[in-house]
Amino acid sequence: MSANFTAFLYLISAVCFIMALRGLSSAATSRTGNICGMAGMGIAILTTLFSPIVSTYGLICMALTAGGFVGATIAKNIKMTALPQLVAGFHSLVGLAAVCVAFAAYFEPQAYGIGFPGKVKTLSLLEMSLGAMIGALTFSGSLVAFGKLQGLISSKPLIFSGQHIFNAFLGAVALMGVLLFILTGSLPLFYLITILAFALGFLMILPIGGADMPVVVSMLNSYSGWAAVGIGFTLCNNLLIITGALVGASGAILSYIMCKGMNRSILNVILGGFGSDTPEIGSALQDEQNRAVKVSNGEDAAFILHNARSVIIVPGYGMAVAQAQHVLREMADLLKTTGVNVRYAIHPVAGRMPGHMNVLLAEANVPYENVLELDEINSDFSTTDVAFVIGANDITNPAAKTDPSSAIYGMPVLDVGKSKIVLFVKRSLASGYAGIDNELFYHDNTFMVLGDAKKICEDVMKGLKSFL
Ligand code: TAP
Repeated sequence: MSANFTAFLYLISAVCFIMALRGLSSAATSRTGNICGMAGMGIAILTTLFSPIVSTYGLICMALTAGGFVGATIAKNIKMTALPQLVAGFHSLVGLAAVCVAFAAYFEPQAYGIGFPGKVKTLSLLEMSLGAMIGALTFSGSLVAFGKLQGLISSKPLIFSGQHIFNAFLGAVALMGVLLFILTGSLPLFYLITILAFALGFLMILPIGGADMPVVVSMLNSYSGWAAVGIGFTLCNNLLIITGALVGASGAILSYIMCKGMNRSILNVILGGFGSDTPEIGSALQDEQNRAVKVSNGEDAAFILHNARSVIIVPGYGMAVAQAQHVLREMADLLKTTGVNVRYAIHPVAGRMPGHMNVLLAEANVPYENVLELDEINSDFSTTDVAFVIGANDITNPAAKTDPSSAIYGMPVLDVGKSKIVLFVKRSLASGYAGIDNELFYHDNTFMVLGDAKKICEDVMKGLKSFL
Protein backbone atom coordinates (compact mmCIF):
# COMPACT_ATOMS: atom_id res chain seq x y z
CA MET A 1 0.00 0.00 0.00
CA SER A 2 1.50 3.37 -1.02
CA ALA A 3 2.16 6.06 1.61
CA ASN A 4 -0.34 8.39 -0.11
CA PHE A 5 -3.10 5.78 -0.05
CA THR A 6 -2.33 5.08 3.64
CA ALA A 7 -2.62 8.81 4.38
CA PHE A 8 -5.93 8.92 2.45
CA LEU A 9 -7.39 6.01 4.47
CA TYR A 10 -6.18 7.60 7.72
CA LEU A 11 -8.01 10.77 6.67
CA ILE A 12 -11.24 8.80 6.14
CA SER A 13 -10.89 7.21 9.55
CA ALA A 14 -10.26 10.64 11.15
CA VAL A 15 -13.48 11.91 9.49
CA CYS A 16 -15.31 8.87 10.91
CA PHE A 17 -14.05 9.79 14.42
CA ILE A 18 -15.30 13.38 13.98
CA MET A 19 -18.70 12.04 12.86
CA ALA A 20 -18.68 9.72 15.89
CA LEU A 21 -18.22 12.70 18.22
CA ARG A 22 -21.00 14.54 16.39
CA GLY A 23 -23.34 11.54 16.67
CA LEU A 24 -22.59 10.98 20.35
CA SER A 25 -23.63 14.54 21.19
CA SER A 26 -27.31 13.53 21.29
CA ALA A 27 -29.11 10.43 22.56
CA ALA A 28 -31.12 10.16 19.31
CA THR A 29 -28.00 9.92 17.09
CA SER A 30 -25.67 8.13 19.51
CA ARG A 31 -26.03 4.70 17.87
CA THR A 32 -24.99 6.15 14.49
CA GLY A 33 -22.13 7.91 16.27
CA ASN A 34 -20.97 4.61 17.76
CA ILE A 35 -21.10 2.90 14.37
CA CYS A 36 -19.00 5.71 12.85
CA GLY A 37 -16.46 5.34 15.66
CA MET A 38 -16.23 1.56 15.15
CA ALA A 39 -15.89 2.00 11.36
CA GLY A 40 -13.13 4.59 11.86
CA MET A 41 -11.22 2.31 14.24
CA GLY A 42 -11.65 -0.69 11.86
CA ILE A 43 -10.27 1.33 8.92
CA ALA A 44 -7.40 2.63 11.11
CA ILE A 45 -6.36 -0.85 12.26
CA LEU A 46 -6.55 -2.43 8.77
CA THR A 47 -4.68 0.49 7.17
CA THR A 48 -1.90 0.24 9.76
CA LEU A 49 -1.67 -3.55 9.28
CA PHE A 50 -1.23 -3.20 5.50
CA SER A 51 0.99 -0.12 5.57
CA PRO A 52 4.60 -0.48 4.29
CA ILE A 53 6.20 0.18 7.70
CA VAL A 54 4.94 -3.16 9.07
CA SER A 55 7.61 -5.82 8.53
CA THR A 56 6.38 -8.65 10.76
CA TYR A 57 2.90 -9.71 11.85
CA GLY A 58 3.65 -12.19 14.67
CA LEU A 59 3.80 -9.76 17.59
CA ILE A 60 0.97 -7.59 16.20
CA CYS A 61 -1.35 -10.62 15.92
CA MET A 62 -0.49 -11.69 19.48
CA ALA A 63 -1.19 -8.18 20.83
CA LEU A 64 -4.44 -7.86 18.82
CA THR A 65 -5.70 -11.26 20.01
CA ALA A 66 -4.79 -10.66 23.66
CA GLY A 67 -6.13 -7.06 23.67
CA GLY A 68 -9.28 -8.02 21.74
CA PHE A 69 -9.97 -10.93 24.12
CA VAL A 70 -9.45 -8.87 27.30
CA GLY A 71 -11.48 -5.94 25.87
CA ALA A 72 -14.38 -8.15 24.74
CA THR A 73 -14.49 -10.02 28.08
CA ILE A 74 -14.54 -6.77 30.08
CA ALA A 75 -17.16 -5.20 27.78
CA LYS A 76 -19.43 -8.26 28.14
CA ASN A 77 -19.20 -8.48 31.92
CA ILE A 78 -18.89 -4.88 33.07
CA LYS A 79 -21.87 -3.40 34.94
CA MET A 80 -23.10 -0.04 33.70
CA THR A 81 -22.49 1.41 37.18
CA ALA A 82 -18.80 0.42 37.02
CA LEU A 83 -18.14 2.17 33.69
CA PRO A 84 -16.51 5.31 35.17
CA GLN A 85 -13.80 3.30 36.94
CA LEU A 86 -13.33 1.20 33.78
CA VAL A 87 -12.85 4.39 31.77
CA ALA A 88 -10.37 5.65 34.40
CA GLY A 89 -8.54 2.30 34.20
CA PHE A 90 -8.35 2.56 30.39
CA HIS A 91 -7.03 6.14 30.61
CA SER A 92 -4.23 4.91 32.86
CA LEU A 93 -3.24 2.38 30.17
CA VAL A 94 -3.09 5.13 27.50
CA GLY A 95 -0.82 7.11 29.84
CA LEU A 96 1.41 4.09 30.45
CA ALA A 97 1.59 3.40 26.69
CA ALA A 98 2.81 6.97 26.13
CA VAL A 99 5.57 6.50 28.72
CA CYS A 100 6.62 3.15 27.19
CA VAL A 101 6.72 4.58 23.63
CA ALA A 102 8.76 7.57 24.80
CA PHE A 103 11.34 5.31 26.51
CA ALA A 104 11.44 2.91 23.54
CA ALA A 105 12.15 5.89 21.27
CA TYR A 106 14.91 7.07 23.62
CA PHE A 107 16.67 3.69 23.65
CA GLU A 108 16.10 2.80 19.94
CA PRO A 109 15.84 6.17 18.12
CA GLN A 110 16.97 4.69 14.81
CA ALA A 111 13.88 2.41 14.77
CA TYR A 112 11.73 5.57 14.83
CA GLY A 113 13.88 7.47 12.31
CA ILE A 114 14.63 10.25 14.83
CA GLY A 115 18.42 9.83 15.10
CA PHE A 116 20.84 7.54 16.88
CA PRO A 117 21.49 6.79 20.58
CA GLY A 118 23.02 9.95 22.05
CA LYS A 119 22.19 11.93 18.88
CA VAL A 120 18.43 12.38 18.85
CA LYS A 121 16.80 15.38 17.11
CA THR A 122 15.99 18.23 19.55
CA LEU A 123 12.33 18.35 18.48
CA SER A 124 12.03 14.60 19.10
CA LEU A 125 13.53 15.03 22.58
CA LEU A 126 10.85 17.64 23.31
CA GLU A 127 8.05 15.36 22.03
CA MET A 128 9.44 12.40 23.99
CA SER A 129 9.80 14.26 27.30
CA LEU A 130 6.37 15.91 27.05
CA GLY A 131 4.79 12.58 25.99
CA ALA A 132 6.42 10.78 28.95
CA MET A 133 5.44 13.58 31.35
CA ILE A 134 1.77 13.81 30.32
CA GLY A 135 1.60 10.01 30.06
CA ALA A 136 3.02 9.45 33.57
CA LEU A 137 0.70 12.08 35.05
CA THR A 138 -2.30 10.52 33.29
CA PHE A 139 -1.27 7.04 34.46
CA SER A 140 -0.96 7.80 38.18
CA GLY A 141 -3.85 10.32 38.23
CA SER A 142 -6.15 7.76 36.56
CA LEU A 143 -5.09 5.08 39.05
CA VAL A 144 -6.17 7.36 41.92
CA ALA A 145 -9.45 8.16 40.12
CA PHE A 146 -9.98 4.40 39.63
CA GLY A 147 -9.32 3.80 43.35
CA LYS A 148 -11.73 6.54 44.43
CA LEU A 149 -14.51 5.43 42.07
CA GLN A 150 -14.07 1.76 42.99
CA GLY A 151 -14.16 2.66 46.71
CA LEU A 152 -10.57 1.46 47.28
CA ILE A 153 -9.54 5.00 48.32
CA SER A 154 -11.72 7.37 50.35
CA SER A 155 -13.77 9.66 48.10
CA LYS A 156 -13.23 12.51 50.59
CA PRO A 157 -10.63 15.14 49.62
CA LEU A 158 -7.22 14.11 51.03
CA ILE A 159 -5.55 17.38 51.81
CA PHE A 160 -2.31 18.37 53.61
CA SER A 161 -1.10 21.88 54.29
CA GLY A 162 1.10 23.47 51.64
CA GLN A 163 -0.11 20.89 49.10
CA HIS A 164 -0.61 23.34 46.25
CA ILE A 165 2.75 25.02 46.75
CA PHE A 166 4.40 21.60 46.84
CA ASN A 167 2.56 20.55 43.64
CA ALA A 168 3.53 23.81 41.93
CA PHE A 169 7.16 23.23 42.97
CA LEU A 170 7.15 19.66 41.58
CA GLY A 171 5.56 20.90 38.32
CA ALA A 172 8.14 23.66 37.95
CA VAL A 173 11.05 21.23 38.58
CA ALA A 174 9.59 18.78 36.02
CA LEU A 175 9.29 21.54 33.38
CA MET A 176 12.84 22.69 34.07
CA GLY A 177 13.87 19.03 33.70
CA VAL A 178 12.22 18.98 30.26
CA LEU A 179 14.19 22.08 29.26
CA LEU A 180 17.50 20.61 30.41
CA PHE A 181 16.67 17.23 28.82
CA ILE A 182 16.15 18.90 25.43
CA LEU A 183 19.60 20.47 25.75
CA THR A 184 21.46 17.42 27.07
CA GLY A 185 19.43 14.29 26.23
CA SER A 186 20.50 12.94 29.65
CA LEU A 187 18.89 9.62 30.70
CA PRO A 188 18.82 10.40 34.49
CA LEU A 189 16.92 13.61 33.66
CA PHE A 190 14.45 11.60 31.58
CA TYR A 191 13.86 9.30 34.57
CA LEU A 192 13.52 12.31 36.90
CA ILE A 193 10.89 13.99 34.69
CA THR A 194 8.88 10.76 34.54
CA ILE A 195 9.06 10.09 38.30
CA LEU A 196 8.06 13.69 39.12
CA ALA A 197 5.10 13.45 36.74
CA PHE A 198 4.02 10.14 38.34
CA ALA A 199 4.11 11.80 41.77
CA LEU A 200 2.26 14.85 40.48
CA GLY A 201 -0.55 12.67 39.07
CA PHE A 202 -1.13 11.13 42.52
CA LEU A 203 -0.91 14.45 44.35
CA MET A 204 -3.23 16.29 41.96
CA ILE A 205 -6.12 13.82 42.12
CA LEU A 206 -5.97 12.83 45.83
CA PRO A 207 -7.32 16.22 47.06
CA ILE A 208 -10.35 16.07 44.78
CA GLY A 209 -13.58 15.16 46.56
CA GLY A 210 -16.09 12.54 45.41
CA ALA A 211 -18.64 15.00 44.07
CA ASP A 212 -16.05 16.48 41.68
CA MET A 213 -14.89 13.11 40.30
CA PRO A 214 -16.99 13.40 37.09
CA VAL A 215 -15.00 16.46 36.05
CA VAL A 216 -11.74 14.72 36.95
CA VAL A 217 -12.57 11.67 34.84
CA SER A 218 -13.29 13.84 31.81
CA MET A 219 -10.14 15.89 32.50
CA LEU A 220 -8.06 12.70 32.62
CA ASN A 221 -9.77 11.68 29.40
CA SER A 222 -8.43 14.89 27.90
CA TYR A 223 -4.92 14.26 29.32
CA SER A 224 -4.93 10.74 27.82
CA GLY A 225 -5.75 12.32 24.43
CA TRP A 226 -2.76 14.67 24.68
CA ALA A 227 -0.58 11.73 25.77
CA ALA A 228 -1.70 9.93 22.57
CA VAL A 229 -0.73 13.06 20.57
CA GLY A 230 2.74 12.73 22.12
CA ILE A 231 2.93 9.07 21.02
CA GLY A 232 1.70 10.12 17.55
CA PHE A 233 4.52 12.62 17.12
CA THR A 234 7.13 10.12 18.31
CA LEU A 235 5.79 7.43 15.95
CA CYS A 236 5.23 9.98 13.12
CA ASN A 237 1.64 8.70 12.88
CA ASN A 238 -0.75 11.41 11.67
CA LEU A 239 -3.89 9.49 12.61
CA LEU A 240 -2.73 9.10 16.21
CA ILE A 241 -2.00 12.83 16.35
CA ILE A 242 -5.46 13.72 14.97
CA THR A 243 -7.30 11.17 17.15
CA GLY A 244 -5.37 12.18 20.26
CA ALA A 245 -6.14 15.84 19.58
CA LEU A 246 -9.85 14.99 19.12
CA VAL A 247 -9.92 13.13 22.45
CA GLY A 248 -7.84 15.84 24.16
CA ALA A 249 -9.96 18.72 22.87
CA SER A 250 -13.35 17.04 23.36
CA GLY A 251 -12.35 15.94 26.88
CA ALA A 252 -11.29 19.49 27.70
CA ILE A 253 -14.57 20.91 26.31
CA LEU A 254 -16.60 18.33 28.25
CA SER A 255 -14.67 19.20 31.42
CA TYR A 256 -15.40 22.88 30.84
CA ILE A 257 -19.12 22.19 30.31
CA MET A 258 -19.25 19.99 33.42
CA CYS A 259 -17.39 22.60 35.47
CA LYS A 260 -19.94 25.19 34.36
CA GLY A 261 -22.80 22.78 35.15
CA MET A 262 -21.38 22.12 38.64
CA ASN A 263 -20.33 25.73 39.23
CA ARG A 264 -16.65 24.77 39.60
CA SER A 265 -13.60 26.59 38.28
CA ILE A 266 -11.84 24.65 35.48
CA LEU A 267 -8.50 25.95 36.80
CA ASN A 268 -9.17 24.32 40.19
CA VAL A 269 -9.70 20.98 38.50
CA ILE A 270 -6.63 21.24 36.24
CA LEU A 271 -4.46 22.21 39.20
CA GLY A 272 -5.84 19.41 41.32
CA GLY A 273 -8.43 20.47 43.86
CA PHE A 274 -6.99 23.97 44.23
CA GLY A 275 -9.34 25.86 46.52
CA SER A 276 -11.12 22.74 47.76
CA ASP A 277 -9.88 23.14 51.32
CA THR A 278 -13.41 22.88 52.64
CA PRO A 279 -13.85 22.16 56.33
CA GLU A 280 -15.53 19.02 57.67
CA ILE A 281 -17.99 17.60 55.18
CA GLY A 282 -21.60 18.01 56.30
CA SER A 283 -20.55 19.43 59.66
CA ALA A 284 -23.50 21.81 59.65
CA LEU A 285 -25.90 18.87 59.72
CA GLN A 286 -24.28 16.74 62.39
CA ASP A 287 -26.84 17.76 65.03
CA GLU A 288 -29.72 16.75 62.80
CA GLN A 289 -28.85 13.06 62.82
CA ASN A 290 -31.53 12.26 65.37
CA ARG A 291 -34.39 14.22 63.80
CA ALA A 292 -37.52 12.31 62.90
CA VAL A 293 -38.30 11.33 59.33
CA LYS A 294 -41.60 10.20 57.83
CA VAL A 295 -41.15 6.65 56.58
CA SER A 296 -43.56 5.32 53.97
CA ASN A 297 -43.94 2.26 51.71
CA GLY A 298 -44.80 1.36 48.11
CA GLU A 299 -48.51 1.13 48.76
CA ASP A 300 -48.74 4.61 50.32
CA ALA A 301 -46.54 5.99 47.56
CA ALA A 302 -48.94 4.52 44.98
CA PHE A 303 -51.84 6.30 46.68
CA ILE A 304 -50.00 9.65 46.67
CA LEU A 305 -48.97 9.24 43.02
CA HIS A 306 -52.46 8.17 41.95
CA ASN A 307 -53.90 11.37 43.43
CA ALA A 308 -51.31 13.66 41.81
CA ARG A 309 -51.81 15.65 38.62
CA SER A 310 -48.14 16.21 37.94
CA VAL A 311 -45.14 14.08 38.85
CA ILE A 312 -41.44 14.67 38.21
CA ILE A 313 -39.22 11.59 38.47
CA VAL A 314 -35.63 12.27 39.56
CA PRO A 315 -33.43 9.24 38.85
CA GLY A 316 -29.97 8.81 40.38
CA TYR A 317 -27.21 6.29 40.91
CA GLY A 318 -29.43 3.98 43.05
CA MET A 319 -31.82 3.48 40.11
CA ALA A 320 -28.85 2.30 38.06
CA VAL A 321 -27.67 -0.04 40.83
CA ALA A 322 -31.14 -1.54 41.20
CA GLN A 323 -31.67 -1.64 37.40
CA ALA A 324 -35.09 -0.17 38.11
CA GLN A 325 -35.42 1.82 34.86
CA HIS A 326 -37.74 -0.69 33.09
CA VAL A 327 -40.24 -1.09 35.92
CA LEU A 328 -39.99 2.67 36.54
CA ARG A 329 -41.01 3.34 32.92
CA GLU A 330 -43.94 0.87 33.27
CA MET A 331 -44.97 2.67 36.46
CA ALA A 332 -44.80 6.04 34.70
CA ASP A 333 -46.81 4.68 31.73
CA LEU A 334 -49.49 3.43 34.12
CA LEU A 335 -49.68 6.85 35.77
CA LYS A 336 -49.96 8.52 32.37
CA THR A 337 -52.96 6.34 31.46
CA THR A 338 -54.75 7.85 34.45
CA GLY A 339 -54.06 11.38 33.19
CA VAL A 340 -51.03 12.22 35.36
CA ASN A 341 -48.42 14.45 33.70
CA VAL A 342 -45.17 12.50 34.22
CA ARG A 343 -41.74 13.87 33.32
CA TYR A 344 -38.14 12.97 34.18
CA ALA A 345 -35.55 15.47 35.48
CA ILE A 346 -31.90 14.78 34.68
CA HIS A 347 -29.05 16.34 36.64
CA PRO A 348 -25.78 16.69 34.65
CA VAL A 349 -23.85 14.48 37.12
CA ALA A 350 -26.61 12.05 38.18
CA GLY A 351 -25.22 8.52 38.42
CA ARG A 352 -21.56 7.88 37.85
CA MET A 353 -20.84 9.01 34.28
CA PRO A 354 -21.97 11.76 31.92
CA GLY A 355 -25.32 10.85 30.36
CA HIS A 356 -25.70 7.82 32.70
CA MET A 357 -29.40 8.42 33.36
CA ASN A 358 -30.16 9.32 29.72
CA VAL A 359 -28.66 6.01 28.59
CA LEU A 360 -30.64 3.96 31.11
CA LEU A 361 -33.92 5.74 30.35
CA ALA A 362 -33.35 5.38 26.60
CA GLU A 363 -32.66 1.66 27.17
CA ALA A 364 -36.07 1.43 28.90
CA ASN A 365 -37.70 3.24 25.93
CA VAL A 366 -38.67 6.35 27.87
CA PRO A 367 -39.69 8.94 25.22
CA TYR A 368 -36.94 11.58 24.76
CA GLU A 369 -39.48 14.42 24.96
CA ASN A 370 -40.34 13.40 28.56
CA VAL A 371 -36.69 13.61 29.65
CA LEU A 372 -35.67 17.16 30.61
CA GLU A 373 -32.34 18.61 31.70
CA LEU A 374 -31.89 20.53 34.98
CA ASP A 375 -32.16 23.97 33.33
CA GLU A 376 -35.34 23.02 31.48
CA ILE A 377 -37.29 21.63 34.43
CA ASN A 378 -35.92 23.02 37.69
CA SER A 379 -38.37 25.90 37.89
CA ASP A 380 -41.32 23.47 37.45
CA PHE A 381 -40.86 21.74 40.83
CA SER A 382 -42.69 24.55 42.63
CA THR A 383 -45.84 23.82 40.58
CA THR A 384 -45.52 20.02 40.79
CA ASP A 385 -47.53 17.73 43.06
CA VAL A 386 -44.98 14.95 43.59
CA ALA A 387 -41.22 14.69 43.10
CA PHE A 388 -40.41 10.96 42.90
CA VAL A 389 -36.69 10.79 43.76
CA ILE A 390 -35.43 7.32 42.96
CA GLY A 391 -31.91 6.36 44.08
CA ALA A 392 -30.73 9.98 43.91
CA ASN A 393 -29.22 11.95 46.77
CA ASP A 394 -26.39 14.47 46.19
CA ILE A 395 -28.09 15.96 43.13
CA THR A 396 -31.04 17.04 45.29
CA ASN A 397 -29.09 18.15 48.38
CA PRO A 398 -29.99 21.75 49.33
CA ALA A 399 -26.66 22.04 51.21
CA ALA A 400 -25.20 22.90 47.79
CA LYS A 401 -27.12 26.19 48.07
CA THR A 402 -27.33 26.79 51.79
CA ASP A 403 -24.13 25.51 53.43
CA PRO A 404 -20.94 27.30 52.34
CA SER A 405 -18.89 24.77 54.32
CA SER A 406 -20.27 21.88 52.26
CA ALA A 407 -18.03 20.13 49.71
CA ILE A 408 -20.82 20.44 47.13
CA TYR A 409 -21.49 24.13 47.82
CA GLY A 410 -22.08 25.96 44.54
CA MET A 411 -23.14 22.87 42.57
CA PRO A 412 -26.59 23.36 41.03
CA VAL A 413 -29.15 20.91 42.43
CA LEU A 414 -32.67 19.85 41.48
CA ASP A 415 -35.11 21.79 43.68
CA VAL A 416 -37.23 18.74 44.52
CA GLY A 417 -38.08 20.16 47.97
CA LYS A 418 -40.23 22.84 46.31
CA SER A 419 -42.81 20.27 45.14
CA LYS A 420 -45.88 19.65 47.31
CA ILE A 421 -44.67 16.14 48.26
CA VAL A 422 -41.27 14.49 47.90
CA LEU A 423 -41.10 10.70 47.77
CA PHE A 424 -37.49 9.62 48.42
CA VAL A 425 -36.89 6.04 47.28
CA LYS A 426 -33.67 4.63 48.77
CA ARG A 427 -32.64 1.89 51.15
CA SER A 428 -31.62 3.94 54.20
CA LEU A 429 -30.85 7.46 55.40
CA ALA A 430 -27.24 7.01 54.29
CA SER A 431 -25.47 9.83 52.45
CA GLY A 432 -24.70 9.81 48.73
CA TYR A 433 -21.37 9.70 46.89
CA ALA A 434 -20.12 13.00 48.34
CA GLY A 435 -20.65 11.70 51.89
CA ILE A 436 -22.93 14.59 52.92
CA ASP A 437 -26.18 14.35 54.89
CA ASN A 438 -29.29 15.48 53.08
CA GLU A 439 -31.54 17.69 55.20
CA LEU A 440 -34.42 17.11 52.76
CA PHE A 441 -35.03 13.74 54.46
CA TYR A 442 -36.26 15.63 57.54
CA HIS A 443 -38.54 18.10 55.78
CA ASP A 444 -42.26 18.06 56.51
CA ASN A 445 -43.26 17.35 52.91
CA THR A 446 -40.78 14.43 52.49
CA PHE A 447 -41.69 10.76 52.78
CA MET A 448 -38.83 8.26 52.84
CA VAL A 449 -39.88 5.16 50.90
CA LEU A 450 -37.14 2.83 52.12
CA GLY A 451 -36.12 -0.23 50.10
CA ASP A 452 -34.50 -1.36 46.88
CA ALA A 453 -35.55 0.94 44.02
CA LYS A 454 -36.77 -1.87 41.76
CA LYS A 455 -38.74 -3.58 44.52
CA ILE A 456 -40.38 -0.27 45.54
CA CYS A 457 -41.39 0.45 41.91
CA GLU A 458 -42.92 -3.05 41.68
CA ASP A 459 -44.87 -2.38 44.92
CA VAL A 460 -46.04 0.98 43.58
CA MET A 461 -47.16 -0.73 40.35
CA LYS A 462 -49.18 -3.25 42.37
CA GLY A 463 -50.75 -0.43 44.37
CA LEU A 464 -51.59 1.59 41.23
CA LYS A 465 -53.18 -1.44 39.55
CA SER A 466 -55.40 -1.97 42.59
CA PHE A 467 -56.82 1.54 42.07
CA LEU A 468 -57.74 0.91 38.42
P1 TAP B 1 -25.64 9.54 45.05
O1 TAP B 1 -25.52 10.88 45.66
O2 TAP B 1 -24.46 8.64 45.05
O3 TAP B 1 -26.86 8.81 45.78
C1 TAP B 1 -27.32 7.58 45.35
C2 TAP B 1 -28.23 7.04 46.41
O4 TAP B 1 -28.78 5.84 45.88
C3 TAP B 1 -27.50 6.66 47.68
O5 TAP B 1 -27.70 7.62 48.69
C4 TAP B 1 -28.05 5.28 48.05
O6 TAP B 1 -28.68 5.37 49.32
C5 TAP B 1 -29.12 5.01 46.98
N1 TAP B 1 -29.08 3.63 46.49
C6 TAP B 1 -28.02 2.86 46.22
N2 TAP B 1 -28.41 1.65 45.81
C7 TAP B 1 -29.76 1.66 45.83
C8 TAP B 1 -30.75 0.70 45.52
N3 TAP B 1 -30.44 -0.54 45.11
N4 TAP B 1 -32.05 1.05 45.63
C9 TAP B 1 -32.39 2.30 46.07
N5 TAP B 1 -31.49 3.24 46.38
C10 TAP B 1 -30.19 2.93 46.26
O7 TAP B 1 -26.12 9.61 43.52
P2 TAP B 1 -26.69 10.84 42.68
O8 TAP B 1 -27.71 11.59 43.44
O9 TAP B 1 -27.02 10.26 41.34
O10 TAP B 1 -25.45 11.82 42.52
C11 TAP B 1 -24.30 11.43 41.81
C12 TAP B 1 -23.06 11.64 42.67
O11 TAP B 1 -21.97 10.91 42.07
C13 TAP B 1 -22.65 13.09 42.72
O12 TAP B 1 -22.00 13.37 43.93
C14 TAP B 1 -21.65 13.17 41.56
O13 TAP B 1 -20.77 14.26 41.66
C15 TAP B 1 -20.93 11.83 41.72
N6 TAP B 1 -20.30 11.33 40.49
C16 TAP B 1 -20.93 11.51 39.30
C17 TAP B 1 -20.33 11.08 38.14
C18 TAP B 1 -21.04 11.40 36.83
S1 TAP B 1 -20.21 11.88 35.58
N7 TAP B 1 -22.34 11.33 36.77
C19 TAP B 1 -19.10 10.40 38.18
C20 TAP B 1 -18.49 10.18 39.44
C21 TAP B 1 -19.11 10.65 40.60
P3 TAP B 1 -28.93 4.04 50.19
O14 TAP B 1 -27.60 3.41 50.38
O15 TAP B 1 -29.57 4.54 51.44
O16 TAP B 1 -29.85 3.18 49.39
